[in-house]
Amino acid sequence: ASSVACLMLSGAAFAADLTVGFSQIGSESGWRAAETTVTQQQAKERGIDLKFADAQQKQENQIKAVRGFIAQGVDAILIAPVVATGWDEVLGEAKEAEIPVILLDRQIDAPDDLYLTAVTSDQVFEGKVAGEWLVKDVGDKACKVVELQGTTGSSPAINRKKGFEEAIAGKSNITIARSQTGDFTRTKGKEVMESFIKAENGGKDICAVYAHNDDMAVGAIQAIKEAGLKPGTDIKVVSIDAVPDIFLAMQAGEANATVELTPNMAGPAFDVLEKFKADGTLPPKWIQTESKLFTQADDPKGVYESKKDLGY
Ligand code: AHR
Repeated sequence: ASSVACLMLSGAAFAADLTVGFSQIGSESGWRAAETTVTQQQAKERGIDLKFADAQQKQENQIKAVRGFIAQGVDAILIAPVVATGWDEVLGEAKEAEIPVILLDRQIDAPDDLYLTAVTSDQVFEGKVAGEWLVKDVGDKACKVVELQGTTGSSPAINRKKGFEEAIAGKSNITIARSQTGDFTRTKGKEVMESFIKAENGGKDICAVYAHNDDMAVGAIQAIKEAGLKPGTDIKVVSIDAVPDIFLAMQAGEANATVELTPNMAGPAFDVLEKFKADGTLPPKWIQTESKLFTQADDPKGVYESKKDLGY
């Protein structure tokens, strides 16, 4: 019994001793803000010393931050990678320094021996769920969709587009008329939606907007209203994240569907990191989070209440 107690004690002391660098993308969306809050809470609860670096949407800042963490000799590095390419060199440096790297919420195009694991959703599936919702909602009616893409070159922008296109493939009545990046922000989402509306007969020719995140959808809703149309009715709104504000829009009948992305990527990341540090257990290369569809039928008021104080 005493050796078990001793092991438990040393395990607990070990977790408390960890110093982890976190290179966050920035604060482009409500979801991103929540992920930052949850990561800081998770670190605090576990006694992990979290070194936080905000990259302000720039990969070069993320690379600098990672190099800084390596120089400080941290025990591990979390990266939410803004884009999918261009990581090999810096991750090679982390590997050389024997510092495990965990990717949060976005995937990268690099050999998987450069990181310990990636905690992300299946982003192609998210796009598919959004597309399948629209296919069902529209039925056989002709439907011109406009698409607000996420940050160019980011894995969610690439994959959510792919998944949605897969869902509508074979449905000749549904076409993507326009598709442009809104950079995952409300401001850009609104701006781009305004230009779509202008180009599509004052919005009258648009049947639905598919936004790669809720913040852009909220921006688009504003643009639709300012054009004198009814979001959720004249133009259907489907997006991804399930942030509290989209449930407010759903309550008002102005948004139709969203696919939930948990902001708690750090919990599973710290779980596997602590195990890896304690006894060398290697996690799977991909820890997949859930993707759940919410519509106006799913008690948006209740969901809003349950989420509103969670750091979004
Ligand atoms: O990588 C996850 C995406 O990044 C979220 O859907 C979006 O809101 C964020 O900016």
